[in-house]
Amino acid sequence: MTSCFILKKTNFTYYFYKVIKIQKIKKSKIESVNFDDLVFGKTFTDHMFICHYKNNEWLTPEIRPYQPLKLDPSASVLHYGQAVFEGMKAFKDSQEKIWLFRPDQNFERINRSAHRLQIPEFPRKYFFDGIKKLVKLEQAWIKKGEGNSLYIRPFVFASQPTVQASASDEYIFMIICAPVSTYYSGGEINVLIAEEYSRAANGGVGFAKAAGNYAAQFYPTSEALKKGFQQIIWTDANNHEYLEEAGTMNIFFKINDSLITAPTNDRILDGVTRKSIIEIAKSNGIKVEERPIKVSEIIQAHENGNLQEIFGTGTAVVVLPIKSFSYRGVSYKTNGIDELAIALKKQLIGIQYNQLEDLFNWTVKVD
Ligand SMILES: Cc1ncc(COP(=O)(O)O)c(C=O)c1O
Repeated sequence: MTSCFILKKTNFTYYFYKVIKIQKIKKSKIESVNFDDLVFGKTFTDHMFICHYKNNEWLTPEIRPYQPLKLDPSASVLHYGQAVFEGMKAFKDSQEKIWLFRPDQNFERINRSAHRLQIPEFPRKYFFDGIKKLVKLEQAWIKKGEGNSLYIRPFVFASQPTVQASASDEYIFMIICAPVSTYYSGGEINVLIAEEYSRAANGGVGFAKAAGNYAAQFYPTSEALKKGFQQIIWTDANNHEYLEEAGTMNIFFKINDSLITAPTNDRILDGVTRKSIIEIAKSNGIKVEERPIKVSEIIQAHENGNLQEIFGTGTAVVVLPIKSFSYRGVSYKTNGIDELAIALKKQLIGIQYNQLEDLFNWTVKVD
């Protein structure tokens, strides 16, 4: 298909949108995939979306067969890490209809992340047309049933061939998709509260989904894994006094029947699941407090028998009960039965899979 243009007038400029070029695979690899044995993020679908940025503009977006990229060894991202990404999901309901969950949030967040890393913002139309066309093309990869979904990974990185330590002039924006099922099969995890390493600092890039944020967590997390913890809960970089978030989750504490979570700021990712859970909880009449929360407060609540639940929220895990946490060598177990975590997860999943009425107007149909 040759590209044609769609003209759109904004307040000040005319944009010429190019129509996405689509090249389909000859034969799907889906038959070689065992959907009962998926490891998160290791199996990818047949196609990918790709759009290059050169000479100050995004060129014609394309959907192509999933394939390796050809990159110059001097590609700027390999040296200076200018890369940001997103994580979102598509769900299939019992009538085989496909739904995205709050994709506008991911669109806005990838551009906030991009802006902070001096990466040009990606046009809304390309983002939504790209995701919808790609997901439609890959619909056979989305299996029905709770826990099954298509994980969608939009990302953008600096591709200019240069080792000059400055922002790149060229970028590649891509979307790839992976069929996934439940993230932690065990269903609940044990975490370590950070006392030495930090994830983010004031004025830094903690709020962005910058690739480097994750790279910096791998070493401390692998040390924690060796000690039997699945995740680290990061604390403030100054004194390790305040609880912030985990590797890929925001964290909630239920104390005295209130739900408490750290407020988002320039160190904490503004999670889509976090804000959805807050809204669902409030709509159920649950008191939600978004405020700084000290490690000492959690320990004291535990000692007083008031720490009822801890859970993490994130696109990959949805809502994940945290069974115990460890701080300064002491392990603390929550005493609740995770009833709130389970109830909130049920409502969120109900909306995502189009089983419950979407009173919040969050879901977007792919047709
Ligand atoms: C650092 C971090 N915090 C929190 C989250 C949860 O965000 P969301 O609910 O948008 O997936 C994620 C996952 O994307 C993350 O990487």
